[in-house]
Amino acid sequence: MGNFDFGIVGLGVMGRNLLLNMADHNFSVAGLDLDAEKAASLENEADEKHEIKGTTDAKEFIQLIKKPRAIMLLVPAGKPVDSVINSLLPHLEEGDIVVDGGNSYFEDTNRRVADLNAKGINYFGMGISGGEKGARFGPSMMPGGNENAYERLRPIFEAVAAKVDGEPCVTYLGRSSAGNYVKMVHNGIEYAIMQLIAETYDVLKRGFNFSDNELQEVFESWNNSELQSYLVEITAAILKKEDDLTGKRLVSLISDTAKSKGTGKWTSQNAMEIQAPVPSIDLAVTMRDISKYKEERVKAASLYSWDGDTNNSRQQNVVALFKDAFYFAMINIYAQGMAQLSIASKEFDYGLNLEEVAKIWRGGCIIRAAVLEDFRNAYKNNKELPNLLLDKDLSKRLNLKQRAMREVVKTGIDKGIPMSVYSATLSYFDAYRSATLPTNLIQAQRDYFGAHKYERIDREGIFHTEW
Ligand code: 6PG
Repeated sequence: MGNFDFGIVGLGVMGRNLLLNMADHNFSVAGLDLDAEKAASLENEADEKHEIKGTTDAKEFIQLIKKPRAIMLLVPAGKPVDSVINSLLPHLEEGDIVVDGGNSYFEDTNRRVADLNAKGINYFGMGISGGEKGARFGPSMMPGGNENAYERLRPIFEAVAAKVDGEPCVTYLGRSSAGNYVKMVHNGIEYAIMQLIAETYDVLKRGFNFSDNELQEVFESWNNSELQSYLVEITAAILKKEDDLTGKRLVSLISDTAKSKGTGKWTSQNAMEIQAPVPSIDLAVTMRDISKYKEERVKAASLYSWDGDTNNSRQQNVVALFKDAFYFAMINIYAQGMAQLSIASKEFDYGLNLEEVAKIWRGGCIIRAAVLEDFRNAYKNNKELPNLLLDKDLSKRLNLKQRAMREVVKTGIDKGIPMSVYSATLSYFDAYRSATLPTNLIQAQRDYFGAHKYERIDREGIFHTEW
């Protein structure tokens, strides 16, 4: 009794896979699940090399783990997390550590940190990215909580995390809900890049008659370039897949109504709250919402048509143009998400190190991409960089691709094909690089109708005018 290195509550696919990953790395791990079948089937995996124990009994589970205990919850976010915590609490002791490995809302984590800290228990919110495979063979992990307590977790997490050039894709990120916040923004970026890919697919297909084979080749070739990334890679694989029933491309048989669990929406919501502009993420969330109104869209399609640019023939350089535009947009999307992290870190006193965030996003997670290495270097050169767009090296590359971005956005407008994330991204870029904006007029209007006052550029003070 009391010798196990680690405990996992929730033996669904993620919990079970992470547990087996730990066992592969020679840690003894106990699993708790109310479902007796899941607990028993876990035990079948035990052998000489894998010290594993499954149980349905919370008390027995807790007693199996060596002190201070390290226990991770892999249960659905929301109420299930609270009820598991409540069921464990009577058996936990001061100094024990509970890690929530789900996509929990960061405010929920703040509440739980306060509740459990008051009882002497360390509570961590940790985003885990990489899906089922990641959990089994190496995820990217984003823990936040008490820095001293992290030392108990570090060897286990570093062993199981994905590795890039020998460096583990996990690090202590910051206090309280820092880990959940970073994962939330990770997912916001994920939404925006997925939408960017979908728009690229749409315009090339509907606007330039690219066949599924050609599209697959485009994404495959991009994945062997500076655009190398997990999401581009899986897009090529998805486009190749044939349906077993019909022999057609499976992707073309999938309903165009997108679902979401809410992390992208939370990113946008909180970005508004802390005044961090992330329009590309906002639009990605909006596009999933628009996709839900299928019936209305079908009706509207019969009411409105656009025959502006119906010429589907291709300019020779269309793929190269889109490639540059995609790169340009991708950098701008990460720039928005990472700027949000920088603002949130100050707002919530997380103490985030964005160089470390870029480092642990290079492998294991859904938004892993070759460009993360450049971001890491940008933050290494300037720890206080407020926005990646201000990095000199990146600015040189973006300047080379700016024209392509504008050409591509024009294509969508001319052809009447929605390119919401592309357009919002370009507007963000143009606004961010505008030394002056027309918001002087907005201030004047506010003062006109509401006496809200304004500041002047030529003298100090706060002014009101009887317009
Ligand atoms: C990851 C994913 C993961 C999950 C999302 C999907 O990093 O491994 O982001 O967390 O797939 O929850 O989110 P939506 O259901 O909102 O698209």
